[in-house]
Amino acid sequence: MASTAKGKVCVTGASGFIASWLVKRLLESGYHVLGTVRDPGNQKKVGHLWDLEGAKERLQLVRADLLQEGSFDDAVMACEGVFHTASPIVTKSDSKACQTLEEMLNAAINGTLNVLRSCKKNPSLKRVVLTSSSSTVRIKDEADLPPNVLLDETSWSSIDYCESLQIWYAVAKILAEKAAWEFAKEHKIDLVTILPTFVIGPNLSPELGPTASDVLGLFQGETGKFTAYGRMGYVHIDDVASCHILAYESAGAQGRYICNAAVLDSDDLAALLARRFPCYPVPTSLPRVYGDQSYGFDTAKARALGMAEFKGVEEMFDDAVASLRRHGHLPVPL
Ligand SMILES: NC(=O)c1ccc[n+]([C@@H]2O[C@H](COP(=O)([O-])OP(=O)(O)OC[C@H]3O[C@@H](n4cnc5c(N)ncnc54)[C@H](OP(=O)(O)O)[C@@H]3O)[C@@H](O)[C@H]2O)c1
Repeated sequence: MASTAKGKVCVTGASGFIASWLVKRLLESGYHVLGTVRDPGNQKKVGHLWDLEGAKERLQLVRADLLQEGSFDDAVMACEGVFHTASPIVTKSDSKACQTLEEMLNAAINGTLNVLRSCKKNPSLKRVVLTSSSSTVRIKDEADLPPNVLLDETSWSSIDYCESLQIWYAVAKILAEKAAWEFAKEHKIDLVTILPTFVIGPNLSPELGPTASDVLGLFQGETGKFTAYGRMGYVHIDDVASCHILAYESAGAQGRYICNAAVLDSDDLAALLARRFPCYPVPTSLPRVYGDQSYGFDTAKARALGMAEFKGVEEMFDDAVASLRRHGHLPVPL
């Protein structure tokens, strides 16, 4: 149920997996949302947004592209706050990654700066919340990840190590977040970054994005993607949306916020899911390609912000599976 009306905020890449859920929660809590998408007329991409509660009254979709300088000016100028989530997602196991590497790095780094340059032009902007990633925190040589280390927001992944493993997505996210911090400091923009781990949960759109496709693959018996992920944090999409909104609304919020519920080795995750969903051919174990890792994440900062309790792994995968069934991607067991 919508609460009393709040201000107008911009969500970039509004039709994306995380952004759609964020738009849903922002509308439910009374905000006016100006979402940017690359093609507002593409019903397959944006149709689900118009079904959200409050959308008809308080959602507006406009066209903007990270690769076009000034493209976000009008949207950002009309808002009090900006949630910048738009970013291409490419994983190293995507065979097209190398062909689009330059394009992806350019879109992620210059695209983020493009949005921030628009923010700089709006003197009444309260805050920018940027969706970064835990991949900017956790990817380090074994020597820099001592057993059971708890990584917090002071930790940065090693670019050299990411490049040696060709984890270009992480390289892009690290460079984009660092560039954002530099720009924000120079131009006195109030910036906060959210670093979600692997985001799991219901897909509002029937179209699957890259991460939801990987999850679907696991339930169809694929092993490749999750083997490559190794040890990974997992977080419910609803908690990710809440963390973004808390970071926007809390006057004292500052810096980076790791958003994570639990960290699991990929084979432990597979075993848990195989037990929980015996109706699907989830692999019962996966090889450990990165050797024995035991790092965890310190989420004290997000908890102090108001994230009292994160939803657990079972709930996030139950919700993801229910949504995959609802959209016809997974068969419903008889
Ligand atoms: N999913 C995760 O597990 C996860 C974890 C940590 C961090 N993140 C971060 O969260 C953010 C959203 O991820 P997601 O999983 O929701 O991805 P997603 O569903 O692929 O959404 C990404 C959005 O970015 C937009 N985009 C891509 N290139 C663009 C361009 N040149 N100009 C304008 N918009 C562009 C896409 O718009 P179109 O609809 O026009 O293609 C899409 O809506 C990203 O910054 C990602 O790095 C995700």
